[in-house]
Amino acid sequence: MDTTRRHAEQLDATDPLAALRERFVVVEPGLRYLDGNSLGRLPKATVDRLRAGVEREWGAELVRGWAHWVDDPLRVGDLLGSTLLGAAPGQVAVVDSTTVNLYKLAMAAVDARPTRRVVVTDDDNFPTDRYVLQGIAQARGLTLRLVTTDPDEGLDPTAVAAAVDEDTALVSFSHVAYRSGALADLAGITALAHAAGALTLWDLAHSVGAVPVDLDTSGADLAVGCTYKYLNAGPGAPAFLYVRRELQDRLTQPIWGWFGQADQFAMGPDYQPAAGIRRFATGTPPVLGIAAVEEGVRLLADAGLDRLRAKGSALTDYLIGLADALLAEHGVHLASPREASRRGAHVSMTHRRPGGSPRHSSTNTTSSPTTGHRTGSAGDRRRWRPGSSTSGRPSPRPEPSSANAPTSVTRQSPRPSPEARIRPAGWTGHARQMRMSARSSLACGATESMSRSAPPSNPRGMSLSASPTSLSIPKARSRPGISTSPSV
Ligand SMILES: Cc1ncc(COP(=O)(O)O)c(C=O)c1O
Repeated sequence: MDTTRRHAEQLDATDPLAALRERFVVVEPGLRYLDGNSLGRLPKATVDRLRAGVEREWGAELVRGWAHWVDDPLRVGDLLGSTLLGAAPGQVAVVDSTTVNLYKLAMAAVDARPTRRVVVTDDDNFPTDRYVLQGIAQARGLTLRLVTTDPDEGLDPTAVAAAVDEDTALVSFSHVAYRSGALADLAGITALAHAAGALTLWDLAHSVGAVPVDLDTSGADLAVGCTYKYLNAGPGAPAFLYVRRELQDRLTQPIWGWFGQADQFAMGPDYQPAAGIRRFATGTPPVLGIAAVEEGVRLLADAGLDRLRAKGSALTDYLIGLADALLAEHGVHLASPREASRRGAHVSMTHRRPGGSPRHSSTNTTSSPTTGHRTGSAGDRRRWRPGSSTSGRPSPRPEPSSANAPTSVTRQSPRPSPEARIRPAGWTGHARQMRMSARSSLACGATESMSRSAPPSNPRGMSLSASPTSLSIPKARSRPGISTSPSV
């Protein structure tokens, strides 16, 4: 591994995407910003587009602008679908947030399988995904079955296969794991879910714009994702959802808003869902946010997904090489799949000081006075409260339960505990560690990956590079594999 700056500069000089850096606003040239998997940089075209949107559209057109603004969610959805998601027109809408879209589609899916009682996800899925599914399981009296996932290596297909059966209504995972970047087999898992008669819902937040996604070809049923990461659409930019065409008119989403109404401006007495993808819209779309999504998608389309994927792999390979060469002796280890083909466009590192004492101990692992069970930070597997299982209740499903009613959560772990399998030799057994993650982006190059200082974690527990650094350190997290409390 050549760790010299000269080598990094040579890599940048031959990078086919290097020129695209000029298309981003770079206010601090010295800032090593490798955190596009949390918030992408601001494209210059977006500045102009938003100015025009404010001055020429909102300012000049006033309410007349709605004549074309109403089309934006589906128009930009089609652009996003065809350029980055492998989705033919009429299946993607840019609406709401990822969390809200997850809720709408997951609820629609379980309601479309009324005799099935199980929802499958994994215990390392992004918190909002687990919480939304937990809430739906509680509301509908279902069992949420959690596959145990190695947080560094990602989903185990054998464990997924063991968790999905003829009682499964919905299988929902992240395509690229938010922490490790591990890439799931979207087509393979979709096929096994379909073989059992279940629907699939994919979270593409860390995939879209970073890795190829072929929703139509893979047969995926449903997908959601955000636009503020690799799509560079800005903080709070609207999310997207995908619903496979054949399913659209068979699904009913739970938020009956007027933008999903068949004849919206009839202002009629009853909700009648619109045909097609429009029925998954809810309320007034964020027009300026969608304009920023459009600019972000156009930029990535210009870059080309193949070239983006190649650069994502090359830059993360390079970062891993630097970490191996320069940081391993300081206790920093890779916490992502080592082969580029098995990960998305970001990597994580764990850090432990020689001797095993954790440098960072902000993870809370406490004993809850009310439950007597150990509870911890986001992602901690020991959070579930005891309660009775609802699995096995006879169909039809019970009425939606109250907020305090128990929801069954079961865990599927055919493998040894990840804790036992992944802890590097020589560690002294502390359950806490630091993680660092970094991603490749259009706006950064190999030279940018040279810096090694580490800023403090941000409050969301995700990486945030806000100082001249290439590696950022998210909040510490408890290691998994500790408890398998059967229910909440
Ligand atoms: C994988 C994943 N899913 C869902 C979300 C939540 O998205 P939002 O807060 O925009 O609803 C995030 C946010 O970072 C995420 O990384």
